[in-house]
Amino acid sequence: MEKKLVQLEISDLAFDGKSVGHLEGKVVFCDRGLPGETVLAEITRSKSRYNQAIVHEITEKCEVRIPPVCSHFDRCGGCIWQDLSYQEQLHYKQKQVVDCLERLGDLPSVRVADAIGAPEQFHYRNKMEFSFHVTSGGGFNLGLHRRGRFDDIFDLDRCYLQSELSNEIVAWVRRFVNAEGIPVYDVKRHTGFMRFLVIRQGKHTGQTMVNIVTNYGAFPGQEKLVAGLTGTFPAITTIVHNQNSRKSNIATGEIETVLYGPGYIEETINARRFRIRANSFFQTNSLQAEKLYKTALEHLEADPGDKLLDLYCGTGTIAILFSSYVSEVVGVELVADAVAMAKENALINNVDNVQFIQASVQDFLKSPYLTENPFDIVVVDPPRAGLHPKALRRTLRLSPKKLLYISCNPATFARDAKEIIAAGYDLPAVVPVDMFPHTKHIELVALFHPV
Ligand SMILES: C[S@@+](CC[C@H](N)C(=O)[O-])C[C@H]1O[C@@H](n2cnc3c(N)ncnc32)[C@H](O)[C@@H]1O
Repeated sequence: MEKKLVQLEISDLAFDGKSVGHLEGKVVFCDRGLPGETVLAEITRSKSRYNQAIVHEITEKCEVRIPPVCSHFDRCGGCIWQDLSYQEQLHYKQKQVVDCLERLGDLPSVRVADAIGAPEQFHYRNKMEFSFHVTSGGGFNLGLHRRGRFDDIFDLDRCYLQSELSNEIVAWVRRFVNAEGIPVYDVKRHTGFMRFLVIRQGKHTGQTMVNIVTNYGAFPGQEKLVAGLTGTFPAITTIVHNQNSRKSNIATGEIETVLYGPGYIEETINARRFRIRANSFFQTNSLQAEKLYKTALEHLEADPGDKLLDLYCGTGTIAILFSSYVSEVVGVELVADAVAMAKENALINNVDNVQFIQASVQDFLKSPYLTENPFDIVVVDPPRAGLHPKALRRTLRLSPKKLLYISCNPATFARDAKEIIAAGYDLPAVVPVDMFPHTKHIELVALFHPV
């Protein structure tokens, strides 16, 4: 049966990267199309307040459409906006922050600055996760997620987000697993071995980590793998093996074995050195992270006598970078590996006015230590879910004179900002910073002051 297609004018780009049209007074979220374009689309889902549609043809193209550089563009879930000029990407990312503040935070009067663009639009990532995936023919793919699919991986030829070296390592590991006949993990049956290949590269140092994440068990042919990888790619400075027995499909391990090198790589950010291990968070765009932290520091205007609490501190980047502008810093982080790295990072940078505590932020904020040791500045940089409600309430109880919020999700930020403002803080402006060109993601920096 022939599919019924409707003509739609695309007028906007939505928060999750979908394009927006209208049909009979209802919003239609489409998988493709740019503002100013006309498309022929098939309605695939009809809800009371909106429809979803798949675009079959773009009948009128807009001027800001550009040819994507990547051959995987049509199917990859990564760079969904590679066909939109970078200036326009920044425009829509800024607009998404405005929309979130208005619609989710009820905060139309907060000024949203122009998004700060990234110095490099390609090859900017210092970390990429590639997944192994069993195919129906009995073979396997090693690559990235198909657009809109958490359960399907296409075989990657070349990705433009990390480096050419990273592409070559992917191809080498694929050949190795094939030649050695190592079974690939089947996400439905939970059988097999190879799960992920994670590559981390210091953009300033060139140091490269290969992290193989597998199901539980010894690695078959591990000496051969190490000899082959290090012999072929001298830039590889460390290789680690992480075993993950959990059904959830995440590229971290419960048991880590260092197969080669020190088990970490180093990166420099704004003239400080940072050690990064396989399972600890580190901003994935090093060059733009430098701008992010500089922007945050400039807005903060810290006094040398200030005491600063860095919540969700990861491997200690903010704590260490800000330590020379304040008297004392305490960083709090949940992941033990990251805290160990943060302590080591403070040592190698000769920073002696910071300390790091391993705890969940919400629990740490209950501790009596805080009544005896008040902080002038609180910095929060939570994961995409934003602040835990208890963490938010307990942070506000500290009554900091400055609350700096770095967010990677404008929707949860808008929710939290509404609460912070209701508790007596002012937010004159936020600054979006684009850490991930061609993707739908946008980071932002916001400084709250008590009214
Ligand atoms: C967005 S990262 C920020 C890291 C760091 N500020 C930076 O710039 O590199 C969020 C961090 O919060 C940590 N985290 C997540 N939930 C947490 C919690 N409930 N308590 C403490 N840390 C948490 C994660 O492990 C991660 O390191």
